[in-house]
Amino acid sequence: MRFKAPKGIQDILPPETSTWQHIEAQAREVFKTYGCREIRLSIIEPTDIFLRSIGETTDIVEKEMYTFQDKGGRSVTLRPEGTAGFVRAFIEHHLYNEPSPQRYYYMGPMFRYERPQAGRQRQFYQIGVEVLGVEDPMIDAEVISMLWALFKRLQIKDVTLEVTSIGCRQCRLDYKEALKDFLKDKLTFFCDDCKRRYDLNPLRVLDCKVEACIKGRQGSPSITGFLCRDCREHFKNVQYYLKLLSLPYNINPELVRGLDYYTRTVFEVKSHLLGAQNAVAAGGRYGNLVEEFGGLPTPAVGFAIGVERLLRLIEKPHAHEEGPELFFCSLGEKAQELSLILAEELRAQGLWVEISYDKPSLRSQMRRADRIRAKYVIVIGEDELKGQMVTIKDMQEKREFKVTLEAKEILKTIRQSQ
Ligand code: HAM
Repeated sequence: MRFKAPKGIQDILPPETSTWQHIEAQAREVFKTYGCREIRLSIIEPTDIFLRSIGETTDIVEKEMYTFQDKGGRSVTLRPEGTAGFVRAFIEHHLYNEPSPQRYYYMGPMFRYERPQAGRQRQFYQIGVEVLGVEDPMIDAEVISMLWALFKRLQIKDVTLEVTSIGCRQCRLDYKEALKDFLKDKLTFFCDDCKRRYDLNPLRVLDCKVEACIKGRQGSPSITGFLCRDCREHFKNVQYYLKLLSLPYNINPELVRGLDYYTRTVFEVKSHLLGAQNAVAAGGRYGNLVEEFGGLPTPAVGFAIGVERLLRLIEKPHAHEEGPELFFCSLGEKAQELSLILAEELRAQGLWVEISYDKPSLRSQMRRADRIRAKYVIVIGEDELKGQMVTIKDMQEKREFKVTLEAKEILKTIRQSQ
């Protein structure tokens, strides 16, 4: 019987893992310069938190969640995104007592039962940032700038930043009415989901991927025309600060986010190189969520990057793998035992050391050293044992050294020859 990973779920193997490590390391460095600290969140959450935040009429909640009952009969869900769980943790651990703004980042797998295709997996990784406690539109620009700084650091090109404002609850009340009015006579052409959403949450009709619905909603009014004075002012200032930071952006009033918790600023980073699934990162404000989860009213803004999609945009994947600094070739049991001890001593000095398990031929051991791109080979054969010496072969420079059979002598010789 041969097992396979579930459909839409990919293992991440070396050498690609080194590119992942590179991305994660750069993200940590960049986020640190903005004062963000890492938070490691639960992967399984009570199902309710997603219903209450992402929204019961969204695709994610209606169709895509991995939800099951645990052995205690509780309904739990593999997180489809990080923000809801983050807000749960923010309140549960009283993180609001930390000095404001509270800035956090997280990295890890998310799960959505979507139809797998290029750039869309059922398990995918996000790198996310959440910043809480500030209403000032300057922080929207700062958060977007953080995302942009990471993309710049990773030398990602061919991406565009789209921004809009979807207003507050109040703006949306008027907008919903206008939208319903517009959709009213076209409703018969819409899919069953949209017919249902029309009454429950008409804004979700704008997010439907069904061809007939896309056609039917063409020419619908845009939320930007319905923003209240405060939201208009907020959005104007976000743009002012984006310009101040020379961040290139387009306003896209059609930008629809697939999650209900957003208020005011929303944004996406897209790339034409990604095909149909063209969003590599997305985010926005979620001004009501902390309160809805039982906390005090707390402004919040954040984003998440889809790591698999980011990977497709990295020009030179760091896939080139290096070999060990030292490889021990030995002949006979005694020599192999010695190489085991010496390798331990040298590893304690921080060197990457491997020993050979190919017996008995020295030649096959040398061939392996070559194949794994070892920089130096240490040979312990019969002669070496007799003379209590080792031979060090510099594989790049094709030089040889003979030193006494001691870790510190080996280390010294290598350091000097570099
Ligand atoms: P989202 O737009 O649902 O936002 O996802 C963010 C990113 O995750 C997307 O832009 C995409 O790159 C990646 N992504 C989403 N679904 C998949 C998938 N099935 N396969 C591969 N990649 C995928 C959020 O999740 C929000 N929590 C972002 C946020 C944080 N907003 C405020 N704070």
